Amino acid sequence: MGGNVKKMAEAVRDGALSEGATVTLKEAPDATAEDVIEADAVIMGTPNYASYMSGLMKDFFDRSLFGIRGKCDGKPYATFGSYGGGGMVAIEALNKMIDGLGLKKALDSVGAQREPSSEVLEACRALGSKMAML
Ligand SMILES: Cc1cc2nc3c(=O)[nH]c(=O)nc-3n(C[C@H](O)[C@H](O)[C@H](O)COP(=O)(O)O)c2cc1C
Repeated sequence: MGGNVKKMAEAVRDGALSEGATVTLKEAPDATAEDVIEADAVIMGTPNYASYMSGLMKDFFDRSLFGIRGKCDGKPYATFGSYGGGGMVAIEALNKMIDGLGLKKALDSVGAQREPSSEVLEACRALGSKMAML
């Protein structure tokens, strides 16, 4: 909602594009189970809102959980996110949710405290490029 996670997502996208990957970047309300099913890999991000993933990201899983489960076993995923003082708990909740769908975590998560620094944005680009090279 505030733009910090969006900046990180755009850096992840740029990293994947730099390795020649075809990238679809979507905000949670526009994402569907088919997006995950059709992708070779997925990278999802969330802010920490009230010590959990954002409501819009949770809504994505509420809408698509049964569509994805059983169709993406072993598909590589990675996560990133931004938080205030509460740390990585929302990102860990996101990891748990995606693990439960059968995908496999391929890379370490990237976290930022509030607005991503240039170092964090570089780590986001690296996340995208590493995923593209898997
Ligand atoms: C409604 C709301 C609830 C939040 N709750 C938490 C929280 O429980 N723990 C935390 O560490 N940060 C919390 N934050 C801070 C955000 O995680 C942080 O500002 C983050 O950078 C927001 O990302 P965004 O700009 O993509 O929305 C909250 C922010 C908002 C707007």
